[in-house]
Amino acid sequence: MGKDTLSITDNRTGKSYEVPIANGTIKAMDLRQIKASEDDFGLMTYDPAFTNTASCQSKITFIDGDKGILRYRGYPIEQLADKCTYLEVAYLILFGELPTKSQLDDWVKNITHHTFVHENIKKFMDGFHHDAHPMGMLVSTVGALSTFYPDSRNFRDPVNRLKQTYRLIGKMPTLAAFAYRHSLGMPYVYPDNDLGYAENFLSMLWRMSEPKYKPNPVLAKALDVLFILHADHEQNCSANAMRAVGSSHTDPYSACAAAVAALYGPLHGGANQEVLEMLAEIGSKDRVPEFIKKVKAGERLLMGFGHRVYKNYDPRARIIKETADKVFAVTGKNPLLEIAIELERIALEDDYFVKRRLYPNVDFYSGIIYQAMGFPVDMFTVLFAIPRTSGWIAQWQEMLLDPEQKIARPRQVYLGYDKRDFVPMEKRSEKILAEAGVR
Ligand code: ACO
Repeated sequence: MGKDTLSITDNRTGKSYEVPIANGTIKAMDLRQIKASEDDFGLMTYDPAFTNTASCQSKITFIDGDKGILRYRGYPIEQLADKCTYLEVAYLILFGELPTKSQLDDWVKNITHHTFVHENIKKFMDGFHHDAHPMGMLVSTVGALSTFYPDSRNFRDPVNRLKQTYRLIGKMPTLAAFAYRHSLGMPYVYPDNDLGYAENFLSMLWRMSEPKYKPNPVLAKALDVLFILHADHEQNCSANAMRAVGSSHTDPYSACAAAVAALYGPLHGGANQEVLEMLAEIGSKDRVPEFIKKVKAGERLLMGFGHRVYKNYDPRARIIKETADKVFAVTGKNPLLEIAIELERIALEDDYFVKRRLYPNVDFYSGIIYQAMGFPVDMFTVLFAIPRTSGWIAQWQEMLLDPEQKIARPRQVYLGYDKRDFVPMEKRSEKILAEAGVR
């Protein structure tokens, strides 16, 4: 085996350089020494959307996209989904090891203790329009938490950081449930701290006049499994938002609001809502080929398919499909399932999808289960945000403790004008907006 270095010859100057290779990467800063002339800034890499750039070193989540492998802290997702509760997995993601019995009891107790929110949060909720999207409400209220906990700016203290962690994980379901109740014009339901994490969430959503809500154990368990599957997914768009915003040393609530906002988008967590809307639009199994034709013509995206990292079946989609059977045994089958299965069958055989290695992702089946469980489509992305909170905090914490990390500040390739002289108003052109298609 040769040396762990890369030799680069700059054909502009004929000079050669040797840069170290570590963990399958070279350091972008090692390229800066490569200059065409004395006053040259030095070579950079250009990588819009980070398609081949590692922005951090991490020990949290491992994905092998070609093999369809997902592990949290080394444990396969299949084993965790089968044997753990969500809060147990959240502990693992945050602290690196599975908790002992007493560690878990303590952890659950502390998170449960922080499920209540300040009464003023209800006033914020009341200010939203009746048809406000719950993710919009979540972005705002998570951000607003920072104003209730000004001590959270002292997050360098590990004890303080842990307290914000309890609060964020504990309060997220409460905020989500309040947003849902607001959209229905129903009174908010306070947390029931006798119930488990997923059970309490269901109670806050659906309790009516009964003194105690008894969630269906199969549905509560299914939701808990779905929470495990969504807990972390390494450097995705929202984790990157959490790290980038947190790198300015803002408080964790503000950084988390940015992560929720990133998740809201239809190319990220918003895709499960889009999947359901797509399935409803297709309407019946026999109309699937017609829809696939539109996808292949580039007129539509097959929502819930494709992934930046997975070029194989998303392992979470497989577990969700199994969970669906258990849920449907209680709720009855979602009629959209038939259309989804037909879409998957045709897509997995079709050259367009095979060539591009497009497989179902986590969002393809999750919406179908959520709908069968009684969640409105608008709530789907919220169901993603609740469990992902533990992942976001873990990514944020890892970034803070990493001595190599600094404020996230990418470079750009400037292609705009060179210096030019100011143009007085009477000489300016009307053409610009017309060319941009605005006028
Ligand atoms: N339907 C049809 N064609 C697709 C799809 C799709 N869902 N996804 C990718 N492609 C095509 C692209 O058009 C492109 O084709 P081309 O090479 O002929 O131009 C090729 O496959 C490669 O796709 P990219 O867009 O370059 O892949 P990228 O890694 O940038 O995008 C993404 C990944 C955003 C997830 C994309 O697959 C997509 O838009 N999927 C639908 C939305 C979705 O389900 N998002 C949820 C992702 S999971 C999550 O965030 C939790």
